[in-house]
Amino acid sequence: MSGRHLPRGFRKLAVSERREALREALGLTDAELAQDAPFADLADVMVESSVGVMPVPLGIAGGFLLDGESYNVPLATEEPSVIAAASYAAGIIARAGGFTTGADEPVMTAQVFLEPQPARHAGPESLAAALEGERPQLEGVARGDLERMAGRGGGFRDLRIEPLAGLVKIEIDVDVRDAMGANLLNTVAEQVKEDAARLCGAQALMAVLTNAARGRRARAWFALPVAKLARAGIPGPEVARRIVAATDAANTDAGRAVTHNKGVMNGISALALATANDTRAIEAAAHAWAARDGVYRSLTSFTVDGEELRGFIDLPLAFATVGGAVSFHPHAERALALLGHPSAPTLSRIAAAVGLAQNFAAVYALVSEGIQHGHMRLHATRVAYKAGARGDRAREVGRAIWEQGDISEEAARRLLQPGELQPGETQSEGGG
Ligand code: MEV
Repeated sequence: MSGRHLPRGFRKLAVSERREALREALGLTDAELAQDAPFADLADVMVESSVGVMPVPLGIAGGFLLDGESYNVPLATEEPSVIAAASYAAGIIARAGGFTTGADEPVMTAQVFLEPQPARHAGPESLAAALEGERPQLEGVARGDLERMAGRGGGFRDLRIEPLAGLVKIEIDVDVRDAMGANLLNTVAEQVKEDAARLCGAQALMAVLTNAARGRRARAWFALPVAKLARAGIPGPEVARRIVAATDAANTDAGRAVTHNKGVMNGISALALATANDTRAIEAAAHAWAARDGVYRSLTSFTVDGEELRGFIDLPLAFATVGGAVSFHPHAERALALLGHPSAPTLSRIAAAVGLAQNFAAVYALVSEGIQHGHMRLHATRVAYKAGARGDRAREVGRAIWEQGDISEEAARRLLQPGELQPGETQSEGGG
């Protein structure tokens, strides 16, 4: 079975026409089409061929205490347990003094790849030597493109020339202040690529920033009295020992490390999405960092020191607070306003703390009562919603079917009054 048909030239239609075409293709009602109508124009200027928006829940994880400052952190995620887990962990950590955090200067790196020309260069080494001879010009080109950024306290930081197998790589480090820096770095990289190829008779291969952001890391740590960690009948010191053992498992088994780090990124990606940051860039950088020594490991570490459990995270976090979608999307603006209009390094510190909190909450649950306990309770609320319950009733009915141990739409429907079903649904259809 193939997908639904859309008219030829769909991408060239006006957004209203594309939405109309989508309505026809899917047989949507006026009410269904109207759901995301207020965002149609915004979506249209953000991406090509837009037809609307994909609403993802936005919630607030309260109670984060970082270096004595408290934050309510906006998180956008489709996963039920993320915000509850972040708030829970933030509360425990705040009561023990909160997170201590730090962030590097916001330095990003552009990469230019050049190929030697056999007629002019014996190989990558001789092209690299020729490029070294042109260093003042190349740095001048980069500085020229970065004058405005230099005026804001950022700008050019370094330029490196390195022969690779069959190629030469030029890397340009730029302090991008509160931006993510992709546009600026790509502009600089392309200019340097053109000039380097012309000056040295090399073949330009490509130029683009690296999202690795190894020089733009943020870190967070906390200490908790082990005595406070008792849970599910397990004494605190034993829970702390298990948290360390679980992290050791992530450091020795890549399969476990992926899931462990997925828990970290549950928080970080949700903050990235809420602030319209580049979730893919941030995720790629984090996972590459986790494999920086050739083995994929945990992004967090936990140790027990005397009576304390200590948690620590340090990873690249290229969060921006200006430019791109961040300055453009009205919901991102609200998210940043809620956080007190942080600088990019401060937002990265918040992200580090959220990632560590999220991971701590997950591992704490895993080694004590298990993860399904909390997850199934939240899942039950969704099942109740699907059965037709809305508002507080979704939680009420969800709790009831969870307590009954029968988390099914059938069980939820048995608890609903006929009037509670959504328009167009009947008790026998189940409101799915
Ligand atoms: C679920 O989204 C995240 C966890 O699987 C993370 C973990 O296993 O550490 C609970």
